[in-house]
Amino acid sequence: MPSQTQIILAFDVYGTLLSTESIAKQLASHFGTEKANSIAQEWRKYQLEYTWRLNSMNRFQSFSDVTRNSLKHALAETGDFLGDGDIDGLMKAYNNLSVFPDVPPLFSQLQSTPNITATIFSNGASSMISATLSESPDISPYAKHFKDVVVVEEVRKFKPHPDVYHHLCERVGKKGSEADVWLVSSNPFDVVGANSAGMSTCWVDRSGKGWMDGLVQGEKGKPTIIAKGVGEVVKKGRRHFYMKLIDLVSESQSPTR
Ligand code: LAC
Repeated sequence: MPSQTQIILAFDVYGTLLSTESIAKQLASHFGTEKANSIAQEWRKYQLEYTWRLNSMNRFQSFSDVTRNSLKHALAETGDFLGDGDIDGLMKAYNNLSVFPDVPPLFSQLQSTPNITATIFSNGASSMISATLSESPDISPYAKHFKDVVVVEEVRKFKPHPDVYHHLCERVGKKGSEADVWLVSSNPFDVVGANSAGMSTCWVDRSGKGWMDGLVQGEKGKPTIIAKGVGEVVKKGRRHFYMKLIDLVSESQSPTR
């Protein structure tokens, strides 16, 4: 199917398809459940903070190094320590994070909508994403539904640097038609970054508390649509997708093209 007549849904991975909090299960074997939950949250917080700091400093490190180093920071914060072997074990477990229960219904919907192409779009290192897609019992059965995997290390910047969104649009054949590419993410900073690069966005609001991010005022500061779970994205976006597809198909058939 030519990319001109396709809507692209680009799925963020960590926090959107996979629960970063689910790593608490493995942390609990070292620290008990309560402490494990707070370390998991700190770990995610520093992981993101490190990516933003690297962007600001115009430096890049693999997301796998970022993830390992931010774990050590989170442990130091709580006065804990793990040896290299245990840290290696947690990094391996990071490739087996749980899929949110609202994700699997997406895949049957994708099968019945051939003009929608799903792609992975992540800060994750390609080694992490490919291990996850091939080995994780939770997500590997669905890996075939993603037609492409776009990772930010290809441009050595992290989200929300504009280069990563432009790179995604170019990789999926939509350079100059950014609005045909929809980021699906539960991370508000990712949504606002994609809007700023001209893309359309679907924010996954699992907590149901509504949009609170106030960084950018006006329409560009908010998602195009909001879904309660990933499985709701196709239904929520249907009207937008079909209106756009009608335009795309008529443009592709226009004799002036
Ligand atoms: C990702 C981070 C932002 O997967 O969660 O890109």
